[in-house]
Amino acid sequence: MIVAGIDDISIYSPGFFYPLEDLARRHGVDPAKYIVGIGQERMAVPTPDEDIVSMAANAVAPLLVNEVREEISTVIFATESGIDQSKSAGLFVHGVLGLNPNCRVVEFKQACYSATAGIQLASDLVRQRPKEKVLVIASDIARYERNSEGECTQGAGAVAMIVAANPRLLEIHPQSGVFSFDVMDFWRPNHREAAYVNGKLSIDVYLRSLTEAWLDFQRKDGLPLTSIDKLCFHQPFTKMSKKAFGALREAAGAEADHLDEKSYAESQIYGRQIGNTYSASLYIGLSSLLDNCDEDLTGRSVGLFSYGSGSVGEFFSVSVVEGYRRRLRSHAHRALLARRREIDYETYVAWFYTSVKSTEDRISPMQTTGRYRFAAIAEQRRIYAEVDCARLGSLNAVA
Ligand code: COA
Repeated sequence: MIVAGIDDISIYSPGFFYPLEDLARRHGVDPAKYIVGIGQERMAVPTPDEDIVSMAANAVAPLLVNEVREEISTVIFATESGIDQSKSAGLFVHGVLGLNPNCRVVEFKQACYSATAGIQLASDLVRQRPKEKVLVIASDIARYERNSEGECTQGAGAVAMIVAANPRLLEIHPQSGVFSFDVMDFWRPNHREAAYVNGKLSIDVYLRSLTEAWLDFQRKDGLPLTSIDKLCFHQPFTKMSKKAFGALREAAGAEADHLDEKSYAESQIYGRQIGNTYSASLYIGLSSLLDNCDEDLTGRSVGLFSYGSGSVGEFFSVSVVEGYRRRLRSHAHRALLARRREIDYETYVAWFYTSVKSTEDRISPMQTTGRYRFAAIAEQRRIYAEVDCARLGSLNAVA
């Protein structure tokens, strides 16, 4: 069988953050609750001229090297925070980046899970047509009500992956375990900017979903846990990985004896600084694991659990390809986070809670530090643009 997997991965998150220590003080709670209890330190805050499309374009741009632009046959855009009820966000990315016209573009939705559906379908596509490459993008702004329990988990970011035959980073194993059922733990009707959420229920159903998906993975001849060296869980907040590991250990029994908190520690590093990114969160976690793990992971297997409220869970595994370190963009990812600037509470509120549904004509002032931005709305049309590089250089130099 043709081996399919992830050939390249790139992440993007806005150039500004708000510290959770300050949010805790504003909410009158002990900062340790957010930093230790929830496991979050900073929340990435998008500027008013950023949205899921501009973040996605910024994540994709570094991947378009050599002949890749022409080889992309399909673009799958996964998101919970879509900007149009009809047109795929992927088409805006296709336009602003000038992708190959002979390619199909589609948007996937299922809360935080949809990128995994994209990865699985992309793998099957390239197993059938090994010359083609599939661009899978996940991009989200995780937004809850102000002063709600979920506010401290908010964040924003995007990840872009090239799925190809004979990948140079990760081989995706064909076995996977899935579990779906209809539950109202988190949902967002069309008129709402922030999700409705029953936080405690969402944790319970996440853990049930993980257990059931794991059992299904075992029934379908997935790897035993004894053959898995690292773990990466969907991470709405980093403490969730600890809860997920506990549930998996309970389901797997003695098979989990060789695993401990170090098995997923590196996958939490970026998420702790960015916050929840819904559909992108698992794959930003995967990027964090690969970028930050000092051990050589060549030939080792990673177990991944994807969860999207509502709900769908999927457990699958990948193995790390020899030479993967040369393909990683670790330096760029770390630099992206290191040069971010802190903002105060008033700016956070003004930016994070800018209405995403407003359709009035406007030209957005230049505030992003990214290369692509959401520049304007004109006659109900969203307009994206590449930023003047000289201007961007001076903005980033100030940071
Ligand atoms: N120091 C250290 N830890 C503290 C603390 C303190 N002063 N105060 C509380 N904590 C700990 C609690 O013990 C708890 O840890 P535990 O979960 O390991 O028991 C943790 O902080 C959270 O406290 P809790 O009271 O449960 O928080 P909450 O009721 O305010 O809300 C969520 C937590 C996750 C439910 C809420 O953030 C939410 O709704 N998030 C959005 C939905 C979501 O992310 N769901 C996940 C599945 S998809």
